[in-house]
Amino acid sequence: MTFISVDREKCNQDGICSSECPARIIVMDPKDGYPIPTSDFKDYCIKCGHCVSVCPTDALRLEWLVPEKCPAMKKEMAVTPEQAEQFLCGRRSIRTFKEKKVPKDILEKLLQVACSAPSAKNQQPWHWIVIQDAAEVRKIAGMVIDAMRMVIQADPQTAMTMGFQRAVASWDQGYDRICRGAPHLIVAHADKNWVFGPEDTALALSLLDLYATSLGLGACWAGYVYKTVNAYPPLVEALGLPVDHLAFGAMMIGYPKFKYRRIPMRNRPRVAWHPSRPLEN
Ligand SMILES: Cc1cc2nc3c(=O)[nH]c(=O)nc-3n(C[C@H](O)[C@H](O)[C@H](O)COP(=O)(O)O)c2cc1C
Repeated sequence: MTFISVDREKCNQDGICSSECPARIIVMDPKDGYPIPTSDFKDYCIKCGHCVSVCPTDALRLEWLVPEKCPAMKKEMAVTPEQAEQFLCGRRSIRTFKEKKVPKDILEKLLQVACSAPSAKNQQPWHWIVIQDAAEVRKIAGMVIDAMRMVIQADPQTAMTMGFQRAVASWDQGYDRICRGAPHLIVAHADKNWVFGPEDTALALSLLDLYATSLGLGACWAGYVYKTVNAYPPLVEALGLPVDHLAFGAMMIGYPKFKYRRIPMRNRPRVAWHPSRPLEN
């Protein structure tokens, strides 16, 4: 079985595919200098596609990935550092939404971009539950409130630390602190035994958050939701969460009612530089 194929007319034998392979399973054949898979290629390939997408001459193909399937990076679309800084630092958690649905194709696009996040071993372990309707989101928020009421009864001190009493009091006064009246809620879940589940899903949601901002949408982590889901079977059932999965993140999505005009201050990096003295040349 040939796992990689090389177009010898195009390959310039630069060895970039071999250098960039994270699993080190592409080597340059000492006989003729063209890339070949190692004998354990199949066991260790993480299907990241780096070898195909880094090749400057489109010479390398995998059984499952060809260069033509990988969109070309366009130089003219590169963001400047100034644009990136304003965009990244200007992103805000949005908590006041217009009463307007986000079209399904846009929600789909959000998820597609989210799925290009880094993930440990390129496992891409995330699954998604999308609540498409404000009334349904409110129902989920109400169930979180039900669970909070139970914790307040059983363990008022822990409930206090988590801010449950305030959330419940707000709910009883007609304000939803759980999902903030968002028209949509996206829950990210993954196999409960995948050790990098929390990191992988958080990274995907972070890309989703940023991409939503670029589309003029607003997003906010729904921490109370996903922390409650895993401990409250009625919510597991209502969301249809598979039994062997855990919810690792949730995000409210909608159109922001207000525009942020400035970037608020954040703490400066708390950093220890090692070595602490400047290196001698
Ligand atoms: C893991 C996590 C959980 C969060 N949960 C909530 C939440 O349940 N409700 C909420 O209004 N904001 C929630 N947030 C948003 C934070 O409060 C917000 O990121 C922080 O105040 C900084 O504001 P910024 O995102 O606009 O910079 C959460 C953020 C993170 C990262």
